[in-house]
Amino acid sequence: MIISILNCDINFGIGKRNGLLFNLPLDMKFFRETTSGHTVAMGENTLLSFPGSKPLKNRTNIVLSKDLDHNYEGVINVHDFNEFINIIKEHGKKETVFIIGGASIYAQTLPYVDEVYLTKVNADGGAEVFFPNLDKNENFVCVDEGTPMMDNGIEIRFTRYKNLKKM
Ligand SMILES: NC(=O)c1ccc[n+]([C@@H]2O[C@H](COP(=O)([O-])OP(=O)(O)OC[C@H]3O[C@@H](n4cnc5c(N)ncnc54)[C@H](OP(=O)(O)O)[C@@H]3O)[C@@H](O)[C@H]2O)c1
Repeated sequence: MIISILNCDINFGIGKRNGLLFNLPLDMKFFRETTSGHTVAMGENTLLSFPGSKPLKNRTNIVLSKDLDHNYEGVINVHDFNEFINIIKEHGKKETVFIIGGASIYAQTLPYVDEVYLTKVNADGGAEVFFPNLDKNENFVCVDEGTPMMDNGIEIRFTRYKNLKKM
């Protein structure tokens, strides 16, 4: 299985200034518990946005960067998108791989994911980078709209979308 996991605001916005839009402890817990013990795949900017630019613990980290000199400790370094997607597909045959961002990686890997775990945040975060609008994408269907709940004073819903045309 290959699954994208992220949160977005009411405009499918996901980030600004290479950071997240909101501080959501409940969503963070969901992310940690869901991805723990699995493989996570990301772009270089997302790795650099983590505390100390360190990979996520208890997970195999795959990182895509263009620059051949950019090789990080404790991760599988990849410098070519086709190789990135092939490694993800290989891992995805045996276990669940989570695509964890950022914007450019979510967009490029979208045709290859089985599902998207999308935490919808009922607020405008003033985003600079966005996720493709799945509600306007005929290849994706919402299979779980989630239940509204409060997270740090903001309403969120854990939704799930299925890819009807997975490549
Ligand atoms: N809301 C959420 O749940 C969530 C989750 C994760 C991240 N985010 C947000 O997303 C933003 C970061 O997104 P981003 O798009 O800037 O960064 P990104 O996707 O994490 O990383 C982009 C990096 O990957 C490289 N890259 C992308 N496509 C490539 C390709 N085809 N071949 C080789 N290298 C490639 C880029 O190289 P070049 O620069 O050389 O092109 C760049 O170094 C941040 O604001 C972050 O907080 C939000």
